[in-house]
Order: sequence, then C-alpha cells, then structure tokens
Amino acid sequence: MRIPHLLAVLCLVLSAAAATVVAATPSGDAALGTRSYDDYERPQACATCHIDIARQHEQAMMSQAYTHHWDAIEYFGLAVPHAEKEPKVAGVKAGCNGCHAPIAFLAGDVPPPHPEAGSRANESVSCDLCHTITGFEGDTPFNYNWISEPGRVKQGPRAGRVSPHHDTVENPFLRTAEFCGTCHNEKDPWGLWVKSTHLEWQEGPHGKAGIVCQDCHMPPAAGRSATMGEPLSDVRQHLFHGAHDNGKLAGVIEVRIHPESREAEPGDSVRLTATLVNAKAGHKVPSGSSEERVLWLHVTATDAAGKTWHLPVDAKGFAGEEMTIASETALAYQDIGDIKGLAGFPGLKRDGEVPAGDRIFRLPYLDPQGRMTIAQWNTASFGPDYRLAPLAAVNETFTWKLPQDAAPGPMTVTAEIWYSRLVSSVAEYMNVPREESEPVKINTHVTTFEVL
Ligand code: HEC
Ligand code: HEC
Ligand code: HEC
Ligand code: HEC
Ligand code: HEC
Repeated sequence: MRIPHLLAVLCLVLSAAAATVVAATPSGDAALGTRSYDDYERPQACATCHIDIARQHEQAMMSQAYTHHWDAIEYFGLAVPHAEKEPKVAGVKAGCNGCHAPIAFLAGDVPPPHPEAGSRANESVSCDLCHTITGFEGDTPFNYNWISEPGRVKQGPRAGRVSPHHDTVENPFLRTAEFCGTCHNEKDPWGLWVKSTHLEWQEGPHGKAGIVCQDCHMPPAAGRSATMGEPLSDVRQHLFHGAHDNGKLAGVIEVRIHPESREAEPGDSVRLTATLVNAKAGHKVPSGSSEERVLWLHVTATDAAGKTWHLPVDAKGFAGEEMTIASETALAYQDIGDIKGLAGFPGLKRDGEVPAGDRIFRLPYLDPQGRMTIAQWNTASFGPDYRLAPLAAVNETFTWKLPQDAAPGPMTVTAEIWYSRLVSSVAEYMNVPREESEPVKINTHVTTFEVL
C-alpha cells in the first residue's frame, strides 16, 4: 500500500516537471522554427500610431541588420559557404539570423531569401520582436537567448498604458542592459566571447553605476510615444546610434599631446606623449564587431618652414604588440581564401590604409591557424586586447631624433584619432561600399615646441 502510494506521488511530481519543461517557451538555438512569420506584426502596423519612434528606428542599424550591404555580403559570401563545408561552424547558417533576422530564425526560414527578394526577413530587429521579449534564459545574456511571446500583449517600460490596437504590460526587463546583452554578447563555436559589449559594460564604471545602454542609446525626451498617447516627460527615443553615426563617433576618444621639453636642437632626441581617453562610451572602443573595426593614432610634426614628418609610435614590448602597430607589408585574412576555395590565396593587407607606424587600438581575432581573421565565427583565439576601456586613459610615446634640416622656430605637433568601421583591404576585396571603410576623423590635438 505504502510503496504504490509513494510511486504515485513520484509519478505526479515527474509529470509536473515534464509539463513545466514543455510549457517553457524555447529560447536561443532551441527556438529555431518554433513560430511563423504571421505570429509577428510588421513595423508598418506600429508606425501608424508610433510615428516618431518608427521613423527613428528606420534610420537605426537594427532595422537594417539583415539588409545592410556588408551584412548581406558577409553572410551570403562567407558565413553560409563556410557553414556548408566545415562542420565545426555549421550552426552559423541559422545562428547569424538569431540576432540579424530573428523573425526568420523563429520561422525556421534559414538561410532566408537574399534581401533583394523583399521577404519578411528584411524586417531585421523589428518593433514586435523587441516588444514581445519577456525575459531571457540562464544567467548570462548571449546568443539570442531572449524569450519571445508574440501576440496581442506588448511588453513596455511603463504601467497602465492604454492602446486601441494592443494590450500593454509593464516589464522592467526592457529597462535593463541584459535585454540588449541577449544579442550584444556572442559566443562562437570555440566558446570565445567574440562580441562582449554587455560584458565590457558590466565590468566598467557605467555598469557599476547602473547607467544602462538605454541611457546613452535611447535617451529620454519630453513628448508622446504614440499620436493619441499621454504627454510624458521622458519618452525613450529609439535612436540606437552607434559606430555608423559619425556624430556619435565624434570625440568619443579624446586626445592630448605634449613634448617632454619646450625647446630642442636638431639632432636631439625629442619625446612626445599622447594621452587617449574613452570619455563617451559605456564599453570598450571599438566594441561589438571588433574584428572589423580599426581605430588609430596618427602623429605628425610640421616645422616653421612647412615641412612635415610622420612620427611612428614607440613600441611598448608586450606580447603580440606587432598586431597593434600598422605595417605596410603584414598580410592577414587568409581564411577568406580557404572559405572561397582559392588555392594559394596570399591574404589581404592586414591594416588596410592605416599609415605604417601608427598605433592601432583593436582586438585581433585569430583563426585556428593563428592568422588574423574578419570571420568572428572562425575565431579560435585572440591577440592582445588593445582597445580603450571606458573612462580610462592610455599613454603612447613618440621618440624622435630631430632632423638636421628642421627649420628654427615653432614645431607644430598634431595628434589625430581616426576610425574605420571595416578594414579597407577587406572592404575593397569583398566589394563593400566605400562608406563602410572610409576613415572618419574623430578627434585632434596640437602642441608645439621651439626648434633652436
Ligand atoms: C492604433 C494605434 C496603435 C498601434 C497601431 C500600435 N500602438 Fe502601441 N500604443 C498605442 C498607444 C495609444 C499607447 C499608449 C501610449 C501612452 O499613453 O503613453 C501604446 C503603447 C505601446 C507600448 C507601451 C509603452 C509603454 O510606455 O510602456 C508599447 C511597447 C507599444 N505600444 C508597442 C507597439 C507595437 C510593437 C506596435 C506594433 C506591433 C504598436 N504598439 C502598435 C497605440 C498604438
Ligand atoms: C532593439 C529593441 C527595440 C526595438 C527594435 C524597438 N523598441 Fe521600443 N523600446 C525598447 C526598449 C528597451 C524600450 C524601453 C526603454 C526604457 O524605458 O528604458 C522601448 C520603449 C518603447 C515605447 C515606450 C516609450 C516610452 O518611453 O514611453 C514604445 C511606445 C515603443 N518602444 C514602441 C516601439 C515601436 C513602435 C518600435 C518599432 C518602430 C520599437 N519600439 C522598436 C526596445 C525596442
Ligand atoms: C534581437 C537582437 C538584438 C537586441 C535585443 C538588441 N540588438 Fe542592437 N543590434 C543587433 C544587431 C544584429 C545589430 C547590427 C546591425 C547591423 O547589421 O549593422 C545591432 C546594432 C546596434 C547598434 C548600432 C551599432 C552600429 O554599428 O552603429 C546599437 C547602438 C545597438 N544595436 C544598441 C542596442 C541596444 C541599446 C539594445 C537594447 C535596448 C539592443 N541594441 C538590443 C541586435 C540586437
Ligand atoms: C555612457 C554612454 C554609453 C553606454 C552606457 C553604452 N554605450 Fe554603446 N556607445 C556609446 C558611444 C559614445 C558609442 C560610439 C563609439 C563606438 O562606436 O564605440 C557607442 C557605440 C556602441 C556600439 C557600436 C560599437 C562598435 O564598435 O561597433 C554598440 C553596438 C553599442 N554601443 C551598444 C551598447 C550596448 C549594448 C550597451 C549596454 C550594454 C551600451 N552600448 C552602453 C555610448 C554608450
Ligand atoms: C549574438 C548575436 C549575433 C550573432 C549570432 C551574429 N551577430 Fe552579427 N552582429 C551582432 C551585433 C549586435 C552587431 C553590431 C555590433 C556593433 O556594431 O559593434 C553585429 C554586427 C555584424 C556585422 C557588422 C555590420 C556593420 O555594418 O558593421 C556583420 C557583417 C555581421 N554582424 C555579420 C554576422 C554574421 C555573418 C553572423 C553569423 C556568422 C553574425 N553576424 C552573427 C549580433 C550578432
């Protein structure tokens, strides 16, 4: 009597546990193919009432995460062919879409039709995807582990909102950095953090102070969030401006330069120190797609007669440092040849058009053979993390033997910070439009000393 009773209780407990597992909404890779496109409303439907938010979102990269030229080129030109021939990276054929075309991923439409076909994959990171996210699975947000519950109820930041088109529910998760981290942290097939914007934020001063992503990328302004909505003092603007907004980049790194001495004679060794500060960003710079971005310090000196010299940076001597000093001859990205099946492909210029001798602030991503790669999914190790951490400074020195022909009078030394979203050699080879690699000047400072 007792034993069958215990068994019955055990069975009840087990079936209850099984029921919870079945009822839980799948997230991450398990969510592939669990929905249909029709479960989600189109952004155009939301735009009829949320006009300003819709127009802002249309100008943000997240509304183009699937259609943007370089995204389509990298996905169809490198990731899909690589996934089809290399079992280790087979998962990225679907996985890229978990963040770039989440509704196509949920619908199991992978690879989705090319952007030119005009399918619903083109909606990219849309209103209804974000506003049906209820939370995330696990302890750390990464690899699209958000949980989406589509339907009439929209998740919002406020309580008591009334809309004729949908129901709303207040969900504090939307106000957290972890919400963004579900797509802004990425672990690759080798288990490396190839994207870690949220983790960098978490360990930096902004994370510790509770200044979240939304505070800088969705700042509050007075207005209404919908045409027939109530006036509010702090409507969250959907700007999501980042590395593709030259205004957001402007001044993001501050630079000051000074000479060791205000006077020097030709033949003297002159030492200049440049100090760089990541003053505006809540994470490292570059962040996110660090495999593609180059940020560099360019220093020149011009004498009283107008003659200009380019000063190469002093090496500091840390392991892997050569990858942070621009070289005319270094080659990289040989895995593009492996993926495309080009025998004897020599690689491309590692540093594109960055002038040789300039310091590059970057995180080198290395493929399984230890060569620098642009394919974050093919990254088996990293070089030195030489990026600029938030609210921290880095000093770089320039030791220069003053040339005999330097004219007497003021020597003007200029330090410039330049940024490129995609290293230019890769952009040229892959036919990516110039705007993606065009160098952007983000700051400058000038100092002088006297040539005696
Ligand atoms: C017919 C008009 C209309 C349409 C269409 C519409 N909304 Fe709304 N929505 C509103 C109104 C009105 C409010 C309440 C705004 C207020 O009073 O602050 C609202 C509120 C919201 C909120 C809650 C905001 C908060 O402060 O918490 C979210 C989220 C939202 N809408 C998302 C969407 C999404 C996503 C779509 C498209 C799938 C959509 N809405 C379509 C009218 C609309
Ligand atoms: C990448 C995810 C994401 C996308 C895409 C997105 N939103 Fe939001 N939205 C948010 C978050 C997060 C908040 C809350 C921010 C906060 O309060 O800190 C928000 C807030 C809102 C609010 C309330 C604003 C307020 O302060 O009262 C409305 C309404 C809204 N979104 C509608 C939309 C519509 C319509 C679209 C598409 C045109 C859209 N959202 C696209 C993430 C997103
Ligand atoms: C569903 C996944 C997803 C979520 C959630 C998400 N993002 Fe994104 N985000 C992306 C993708 C994918 C891109 C890359 C777009 C592209 O292809 O250039 C991106 C791009 C951006 C950019 C532009 C970067 C640039 O290079 O200009 C900013 C800024 C940004 N996201 C901020 C946020 C913030 C803030 C949140 C949280 C409120 C958030 N994102 C939530 C997927 C997401
Ligand atoms: C203190 C303000 C601030 C905070 C907090 C902040 N950002 Fe940024 N973010 C910036 C600035 C400024 C830039 C432009 C510089 C750059 O591209 O690195 C930027 C750039 C970005 C980019 C483009 C990075 C690149 O190199 O391609 C992404 C993506 C992004 N932010 C997402 C986030 C996410 C996600 C969070 C939260 C985990 C966050 N940001 C927190 C200010 C901030
Ligand atoms: C975990 C989410 C996630 C996954 C998975 C992911 N991405 Fe991204 N991707 C992002 C985010 C977020 C950004 C924007 C980061 C930034 O601006 O710094 C981005 C940026 C990019 C960019 C740069 C866009 C630009 O214009 O600068 C390309 C290209 C890209 N991803 C391609 C891919 C490919 C191909 C795959 C699959 C191999 C992939 N991504 C997988 C989230 C993801």
